[in-house]
Amino acid sequence: MQFIKPETSFRPVHDLLMGGLSAKAVEAAVDLKVFDAMEAAPLPLETLAERLGFAGDRLEPLLDVLEAGGVIRKEAGGYAHTPLSGEFLVSTSPLYQGMSVKLNMRFFDAVQDSLSDFVSGREVACHDGDRSWSTEESIQGMGQYALGSGVVPVAELVAGLPGFDGFRSLCDLGGNHGLYTMAVLDRNEALRGTVCDLPPVAELLRARCDRLGYGDRIEAVGFDFRTEALPGGPYDLVLTSHILYAFRDDLAGAVRRIGESIRPGGWFVSHHCARDGRQGGRMGSAVLELQTRLCGYSSHFIEREELTAAFADAGFEDVRFRPVSAEDFALIGAARKAA
Ligand SMILES: C[S@@+](CC[C@H](N)C(=O)[O-])C[C@H]1O[C@@H](n2cnc3c(N)ncnc32)[C@H](O)[C@@H]1O
Repeated sequence: MQFIKPETSFRPVHDLLMGGLSAKAVEAAVDLKVFDAMEAAPLPLETLAERLGFAGDRLEPLLDVLEAGGVIRKEAGGYAHTPLSGEFLVSTSPLYQGMSVKLNMRFFDAVQDSLSDFVSGREVACHDGDRSWSTEESIQGMGQYALGSGVVPVAELVAGLPGFDGFRSLCDLGGNHGLYTMAVLDRNEALRGTVCDLPPVAELLRARCDRLGYGDRIEAVGFDFRTEALPGGPYDLVLTSHILYAFRDDLAGAVRRIGESIRPGGWFVSHHCARDGRQGGRMGSAVLELQTRLCGYSSHFIEREELTAAFADAGFEDVRFRPVSAEDFALIGAARKAA
């Protein structure tokens, strides 16, 4: 037997392997409503264990993983919320992300057990994603994610576009939960929305709009952009959020087809992921891209240059971009159809 002293450290690989369980730890903490038991000031482990009805020695390592990940705080021997966990992970918070966490984990489930098969050439996982968008759980999860990320920044940008007060019609392609449209409609009383999505999604959305009090201002229309033109129009504004990736193989063609449903002088706004030259968050964006490609899409990122070229090709001008935040990969691009 030869005993060789390692020249390098195996640590980075070990840390990656350990990270696999940390995602499950977040999901479990959400399932178990651990964050609901916590407060802004530190509480001792015993108090939390008693509130939740769990053994302290099982709860403690879960809390320590959450603390190491920056999700909660550990101070004076107790555990407390950070602003992040208080805002997003307490189930009574208006920006609660519980269903969004579940949805994210479900996307991972679709690829993780067969990752090596997919990478080595097996037909990719969920090309037929159509059904996965059209459940109440997916709509709720995507809605929570939207509320916690792009809805307000997109609505603010749209409301700041020249001529917004005169807009009367908006089309939200792939609008799913309808929240982007609702937030824009809240900023202009005379505006009406058409949310176009795959037929089973539109079906669920109709009831949702009625429930939320937008039934008379939003029409939910079932259609498939792969084979059909946008229904209705021409619109003052077409909005797309996190859907252009599906048409990225011919982005210019998709933008041109959308442009055909916008009146001259009207606007197209796209909200989507772009790396946008950022160096931070590389692991998150690399994993997102891996998951996206193995689900049959060509990329989860559309950079400014690509969209600018597609806008120009389709006769749009006055192109502008705004990152949603310094940390996120989301970017909002807007352009006006030539008059
Ligand atoms: C990732 S979700 C985005 C939902 C929402 N816009 C948001 O940003 O939260 C993509 C949406 O596009 C819809 N979609 C996907 N392919 C479509 C197609 N070919 N025609 C119409 N809608 C489509 C899906 O049903 C889903 O609701």
